[in-house]
Amino acid sequence: MIPVIGLGSARRYEEARGEAELAPLRDTLRRFHQLGGTVLDTAPSYGNAEAIMGGLVGDLGIRRDLFLCTKVGVNTPEEGRAQIAQSFARLRTERIDLIAVHNLRDIANQLAHLRELKQAGRIRYLGATTSFDRQYEAFEQMMRREAALDSIQIDYALDNRNAAERIIPLAAERGMAVFINLPFGRGSVFRATQGKPLPDWAAEIDCTSWAQIMLKYLVSHPAVTCAVPGMAQARYVDDNLNAGRGRMPDAALRRRMEQYLDAL
Ligand SMILES: NC(=O)c1ccc[n+]([C@@H]2O[C@H](COP(=O)([O-])OP(=O)(O)OC[C@H]3O[C@@H](n4cnc5c(N)ncnc54)[C@H](OP(=O)(O)O)[C@@H]3O)[C@@H](O)[C@H]2O)c1
Repeated sequence: MIPVIGLGSARRYEEARGEAELAPLRDTLRRFHQLGGTVLDTAPSYGNAEAIMGGLVGDLGIRRDLFLCTKVGVNTPEEGRAQIAQSFARLRTERIDLIAVHNLRDIANQLAHLRELKQAGRIRYLGATTSFDRQYEAFEQMMRREAALDSIQIDYALDNRNAAERIIPLAAERGMAVFINLPFGRGSVFRATQGKPLPDWAAEIDCTSWAQIMLKYLVSHPAVTCAVPGMAQARYVDDNLNAGRGRMPDAALRRRMEQYLDAL
């Protein structure tokens, strides 16, 4: 069991240097942990994010409470071994909870290696990710082929719903956990709703912000396990983790939410 809201570390965690830049990230992680957050999502391709995460988690002494997710994104088995060894070192941990193959790169070889690591107890789960519509067909084929895939990570947002057509239902059918990346469409949903008052139905699902509406739409999908919004401010953590609490939209309200956004 993991909480439905995790923390994504692309972009804002990539280049932080010096205490002035690290302090707000440490405050963000501290608040995330205080509120019961556990899932951290990172990747070796996010600049220095793995090392920064590893350092901050060490400073706070919270490793044991976390569900650490990273990725492998390379072209050969040798590069995969080297990159994963580097992830363990950067994250300063003996065990990583989930490693997923990033954007289908060298997928068959990398999954074979991840299965070995899982068997050896170095990782708990393995998976695959994408955030590109052009990869959906190949992604779906891969999901059908790879019976031993524990999880997928896919882009899904109120203004980007293609993943819900086939990929997310297929994951449910295959018993795979579903992580959601780009839950705010990198901020596109905020640009669309900027300056607009919350609709009346927001109160019916205990939402006090647009962020909570966007996230509740995602995590109320019956097959979604966890969404990982990018959060580099403690106030975003307070806001976003509220999306895991209170009443959730039912199917009829989810449809109204889609209609509302489509009409903007
Ligand atoms: N293929 C893959 O595996 C893949 C691809 C893409 C992303 N990912 C994962 O998904 C995560 C999320 O993607 P993302 O960070 O690019 O985009 P995102 O989560 O869709 O959006 C992040 C943006 O939302 C803003 N934000 C967050 N909480 C907010 C709140 N409560 N109120 C107002 N604004 C808020 C942030 O603002 P600021 O600009 O102020 O920080 C940031 O610009 C990544 O960090 C990464 O872990 C994986």
